[in-house]
Amino acid sequence: MEQGPSVPPADRPGSAPAVLPQGSLCSSPEPAFGVIHEALGAELEAHGLAVVPGFLSPAEVGLLRSCAAATRAGGRFRPAGVGRGPSFRIRPEVRGDEVYWLDAGRDGHAVSAWMARMEGLRAAINARLFLGLFGYEAHFSHYPPGASYQIHLDRFADAPLRTLSVVLYLNRNWRSGDDGRLRIYLERAGCRPWRDVMPAGGTLVAFLSDRFPHEVLPAARSRWSLTGWFTRRP
Ligand code: OGA
Ligand code: MN
Repeated sequence: MEQGPSVPPADRPGSAPAVLPQGSLCSSPEPAFGVIHEALGAELEAHGLAVVPGFLSPAEVGLLRSCAAATRAGGRFRPAGVGRGPSFRIRPEVRGDEVYWLDAGRDGHAVSAWMARMEGLRAAINARLFLGLFGYEAHFSHYPPGASYQIHLDRFADAPLRTLSVVLYLNRNWRSGDDGRLRIYLERAGCRPWRDVMPAGGTLVAFLSDRFPHEVLPAARSRWSLTGWFTRRP
């Protein structure tokens, strides 16, 4: 199994915030979030893994996708690597995506609204599962057609604090023929049983970072996601 997720760079390249269409991401009333977060918590508690289609509305997903696309058009995505520090390597045969690490203070309204929403989710999950979730780090990810990410764990020596992985898909009109599934191995890496998730816009997947090896299968189209990790206190 390939090891070592990429981690946020110590210094992010400074540049102007992405230009965003105006809109109100995550504008539903709090109780609606509460119901979704409760359901997600219950599924996580039962299985260590939860898949929630429609976590965001198509309009909300559209705002984040526009932000990601504008950021990439501005040249601010970088090839994702594996490992950290001296062991950092760009290895497209292991991992073919490019990423942009989010910065709530600089990335505009859609990203700060997403961060606020994740703060609500963090509190809801801590109240139910006592995971001690503390911080949150996240990047936009773009897989060009044909790119993949080999089997890996998100918690590894390079990122020992990662506790809950949370992936939100940003793709519009995804069809089954586009593929690009996230394959999550439920017992052993590379073996059945597994669970496949299509990267349809608005679907959110959450799983315990140290428990589930997973991989991204190649897609026929550009594949966009917002991938983040809740970390425990150092
Ligand atoms: C990752 C990852 C899954 C996906 O970035 O570590 O596993 O479906 N992403 O994009
Ligand atoms: Mn991963």
